[in-house]
Amino acid sequence: MRIIDTHCHLYDEAFAADLPSVVEKCRLAGVVSAVNNADSLEAFGKILSLQERFPDFFLSALGIHPEFATKEDAYLERAYEEIRLHASDIVAVGEIGLDYHYDRSPETKARQRKVFRDQIRLAKELSLPIVVHSRDADQETFDILREELPPRVDLHCYSGSVELLREYLRLPFRFSIGIGGVVTFKNARVIKEVVKEVPLSSILSETDAPYLTPTPYRGQRNDPSYLPLVLQEIASLRQRDVEEVGKALHHNAEVFYGRER
Ligand code: NI
Repeated sequence: MRIIDTHCHLYDEAFAADLPSVVEKCRLAGVVSAVNNADSLEAFGKILSLQERFPDFFLSALGIHPEFATKEDAYLERAYEEIRLHASDIVAVGEIGLDYHYDRSPETKARQRKVFRDQIRLAKELSLPIVVHSRDADQETFDILREELPPRVDLHCYSGSVELLREYLRLPFRFSIGIGGVVTFKNARVIKEVVKEVPLSSILSETDAPYLTPTPYRGQRNDPSYLPLVLQEIASLRQRDVEEVGKALHHNAEVFYGRER
């Protein structure tokens, strides 16, 4: 199998001590590429240098996560400048979006919506897909995407309903959902329903490593070498062969980024 992890954070401190052996372990598990997604401007340099160190393994997405949307204007301008500068080195703008989980003040929400829109427009200008993070903000995320209509959207770690999924599939852009370790959790009833219903062509495999480790390793550090467990669960929910699912998801990622891996 040739697996692509479309969403991880292997530049995280959690991998500082043993990254080369983690990459090796991933390759042995059939993972051919992993896309590091930025959260903050501080992550940009780390992500780009990992891509330089492991050019045949890492791909990069640069963007400002909603939790950093309240940073000052100059910080955000510098981030957008960096994204422009590295547009040809990256495969997506991400992760960007809305997260109303920790701070529900009207000012923060308004700021997050503005920063989300600004980055969607930047991605459109640069002809790059976007990777979206949405938490406790299903409807607002949907409304902004419906208005802005970026051409390619990966809604990472999808946590919405089956009904919302159907609404997304009606919109005129290439829509994908990222499926990771959560689908293996016993109590993850809704996402299992979503995975049964969504067209196979709209699924991307992801980890969000070091977080969201699949069962039976839940609670330990996650890394892309656990992705076969996620593919196995998707295959069994859809009653398909795991090789066939793996092949389809690899193809989906290549089409999404417009790159062969
Ligand atoms: Ni993430």
